[in-house]
Amino acid sequence: MSVDGPVAASGVTVRRVREHEWSRLRDLRLEALGDPVAHLAFVETLDQALARPDDFWRERTGSAATSDDVVQVVAVDEHDRLAGTVTGLLTRPGEPDYRGRRTPDLRAAVVAVYVRPSHRGRGVLEQLLRAVEAWLADQGVRRVHLHVHEQNERARRAYLRAGYTAVPGLVELAGVPHRELVRELG
Ligand SMILES: CC(C)(COP(=O)(O)OP(=O)(O)OC[C@H]1O[C@@H](n2cnc3c(N)ncnc32)[C@H](O)[C@@H]1OP(=O)(O)O)[C@@H](O)C(=O)NCCC(=O)NCCS
Repeated sequence: MSVDGPVAASGVTVRRVREHEWSRLRDLRLEALGDPVAHLAFVETLDQALARPDDFWRERTGSAATSDDVVQVVAVDEHDRLAGTVTGLLTRPGEPDYRGRRTPDLRAAVVAVYVRPSHRGRGVLEQLLRAVEAWLADQGVRRVHLHVHEQNERARRAYLRAGYTAVPGLVELAGVPHRELVRELG
């Protein structure tokens, strides 16, 4: 199934990133890391990201565009500007996932979620999530996990609205308590 989607009421189209657009994906990431809730939303800091060389962004975009283990999708507005992004990570049985955990199962996680302030409250997040989930489902995934900082109330509510369910209790991510949410696919 393609991750490309039609223009919805939100006014954006959603598609997988392309290798050549690494610099504007870097700029979107830097903007996300400057968001007022970035300290709740992302493990990476703006200073860390600013210190990364161009090759880092080229390689990251290359794998996000072509790899079988990671997919990054973007929402693109009517002026071809990026409005948001979500990344899906696939962890093969026995490999460490992004939390360093190994399981005997195929695991999938949604990370690096960001919608630009100008496009919030319009369903862009849901479009991005559906596209990543469609790609993951094609890889054989039946359940998607994500983690949200316990103080990131807007994100938590947005995920619930998008069909995710909270797992009881808290889990540590980068030493900080997070809520785990899951969505069953298909
Ligand atoms: C998280 C994010 C992707 C959500 O997308 P969004 O378009 O803003 O989501 P919505 O506005 O559609 O929905 C957010 C929910 O939070 C509510 N909300 C809006 N502003 C809020 C605020 N300041 N505090 C708490 N809740 C708020 C909305 O009412 C809605 O809840 P409801 O469905 O129960 O009414 C976006 O806000 C964002 O990029 N935030 C910064 C980065 C981030 O936090 N990423 C997630 C990391 S886990």
